[in-house]
Amino acid sequence: ESAEKGGYEHFMLKEIHEQPNAIKDTLRGRIVNDNEIVLDKVNITKDEIDKIDKIFIVACGTAYHAGVVGKYVIEKFARIPVEVDIASEFRYREPIINKNTLTIVVSQSGETADTIAALKEAKRNGSKVIAITNVVGSSISREADDVIYTWAGPEIAVASTKAYTTQLVALYLIALDLALKKGTIDKEYAKAICDELKQLPDKAKHILDYKDELQEFAANHFNSKDVFYLGRGLDYAVAMEGSLKLKEISYIHSEAYAAGELKHGTLALIEDGTLVIALATQEHLFEKMLSNIREVTTRGGYVLAFAMKGNNQLEGIVEKVLYIPKTMEEVAPIITVIPLQLLAYYMAVEKGCDVDKPRNLAKSVTVE
Ligand code: G6P
Repeated sequence: ESAEKGGYEHFMLKEIHEQPNAIKDTLRGRIVNDNEIVLDKVNITKDEIDKIDKIFIVACGTAYHAGVVGKYVIEKFARIPVEVDIASEFRYREPIINKNTLTIVVSQSGETADTIAALKEAKRNGSKVIAITNVVGSSISREADDVIYTWAGPEIAVASTKAYTTQLVALYLIALDLALKKGTIDKEYAKAICDELKQLPDKAKHILDYKDELQEFAANHFNSKDVFYLGRGLDYAVAMEGSLKLKEISYIHSEAYAAGELKHGTLALIEDGTLVIALATQEHLFEKMLSNIREVTTRGGYVLAFAMKGNNQLEGIVEKVLYIPKTMEEVAPIITVIPLQLLAYYMAVEKGCDVDKPRNLAKSVTVE
């Protein structure tokens, strides 16, 4: 097993490090001529797209969190309403689906029982189903109409890392494909997004350099009882995934909140020294985020913030700021999540937890 870990102490750490390549592999051959999207196993015509009046993204766990990012991006680029749902909820709530609905199911393993059931429910009601999965030949890949594979390679650690980042890449590609065919996105803007996507593997490599700092931070904070993750827009979606990573492997209670929702409840939980992870990469929401951060610091909260390189406004306001390599804010989630994975990892290691096999959890939940 130690050979399989390639010199890393845990599979999770190895898989975090594999992300630059996994992102590159998932992009390979799918962006051509600057801004054309080629998704080999997806056959969706302009005609079909024009008829779509709603998209469902259905998944569980980390894949669900990828779907939340997908909603923001598809709605922004393709201007089609998107509903993200948890598979175990979707399958039992008589969702309103018809032949003009497109369903996207997301599953690393392609074997999650609830997601398979949701896929079947969508098909039964006449929806076309596109699957995003990491396992060639998996049940979900066989049942879906069309498939986009994430080329993350086998993921062994229960806590998903490289599957998530590559699921995001796949969702961005679908969003661009739909938008370009529908004509809701400017060609130059699509090119700019494509250029940014292509640069992400390198940027992901840079962000791995934060390892030592995050390890040190974890050594000082692994005794935290509660941790709150805050963000707005795409940062909120990433906050959800960061919070899940922490709780599943370190057993520290954590919650993600839309920062604007803070004053409607969570603020009551902030006391002297409460650890708050504030994501502030979304420039157009930065001022709003800044005032939410102040709401926390005023109450004594201890804030670790993540901001976009070049924006130093949080210095001196929060305890610590780490910078995400400069990128268009639209694609920031794909790299912002990486330091959050590392933070969760080091918190769990400091606590002496079984990082790769957290208690009570399974890699793939094939029974209901
Ligand atoms: C389990 C795993 C999670 C994963 C979820 C969905 O709970 O522990 O890491 O996100 O299942 O799995 P899937 O294979 O469908 O993406």
